[in-house]
Amino acid sequence: MRKINLDLTDKSYDIKIGNNIIDLSTVEKFVSNKEVLIVFDSAISGSRIMQFKEMISKSILKLELIEIDANENNKSQETLSEIYSILVENKFSRDCLIIGMGGGIVCDIAGFSAATYQRGVNFLLIPTTLLAQVDASVGGKTAINHPKGKNMIGAFHQPVGVIADISFLKTLPEREISCGLSEMIKHGLINDINYFCWLEENIKQVLRLEPEAIEEAISRSIEIKTFFVKEDEKEANIRALLNFGHTFGHAIELIGEFKDYNHGEAVAIGMILALELSERIGNISKQDCIRVRELLDKAKIDTKIKNPINSTDLYKGMMGDKKKRGNTLNLVVLEDLGKAKVSNEIDESLILEILNSSL
Ligand code: GLY
Repeated sequence: MRKINLDLTDKSYDIKIGNNIIDLSTVEKFVSNKEVLIVFDSAISGSRIMQFKEMISKSILKLELIEIDANENNKSQETLSEIYSILVENKFSRDCLIIGMGGGIVCDIAGFSAATYQRGVNFLLIPTTLLAQVDASVGGKTAINHPKGKNMIGAFHQPVGVIADISFLKTLPEREISCGLSEMIKHGLINDINYFCWLEENIKQVLRLEPEAIEEAISRSIEIKTFFVKEDEKEANIRALLNFGHTFGHAIELIGEFKDYNHGEAVAIGMILALELSERIGNISKQDCIRVRELLDKAKIDTKIKNPINSTDLYKGMMGDKKKRGNTLNLVVLEDLGKAKVSNEIDESLILEILNSSL
């Protein structure tokens, strides 16, 4: 088992990574003598939930469970209300623990309910998808969607721990693994050319979930993510680099009504557009763009546009992004492979030109 500490002084926590690591030794200190609510993803097998429930039941005071059918439409105020109702009706105190067990949607909504119930309670995350293990579970971004925008209502609230068990990944469809890989490739692109090269060399082993390769990849991605969060927890500056491809990507997800593309696919298309932009402003070469596209293809990420997208609509969607300041789009571009920066000097006309030629 590997352990990465996210050092945030009094809010520091460990992220544990390994195969079959969910046992009393990893969870007892969090659940002991607590009222516990498990918010879990319907994609997790019933037997796995039962096993977990039985394992912790001796050490806890009270246990409630809520199953979430994890789709973006359910990352909503209605689902949140259901969670609050369970907590209130069962008289959960401020000392309770919420456990989010599932993919990014469950991690985000479990985290947001913990951030807001009685002005903030503890939560533990057990991410069960690759995307959630390398991204959503780390760094304390919690949120629900508004019908007109993803993650529009949220809070920064750090979990007390994260347990990333790679045994969950074995039952995931390949499309889900590719979705996680999209964010992992992003980590290399924005911060670590050596990791990007390592992914180029090991992508087959990672896709096949070979234990050594997948554990190494998850750990390296989490290390990059924790570096940004430690430096800039509330995204006042460099944490924004983690949004590479996301301003385009979130608008693509929105236009696809959260059905046409999964998050990783939308981010991958967004990264291709952001690379094109980086090339047009003279930061990287055409060959660099081709190299990244080849890795995205090898990672089996579907980057095809499903339904025609109107570039003006996409641009409007981008202007609804949270990263916007006033009327200025803050776009993350690459300075080089492995190095990113935020630019607020990109002309609308250049963005529209790139959208028109690429979509
Ligand atoms: N997903 C980007 C971040 O956590 O900052």
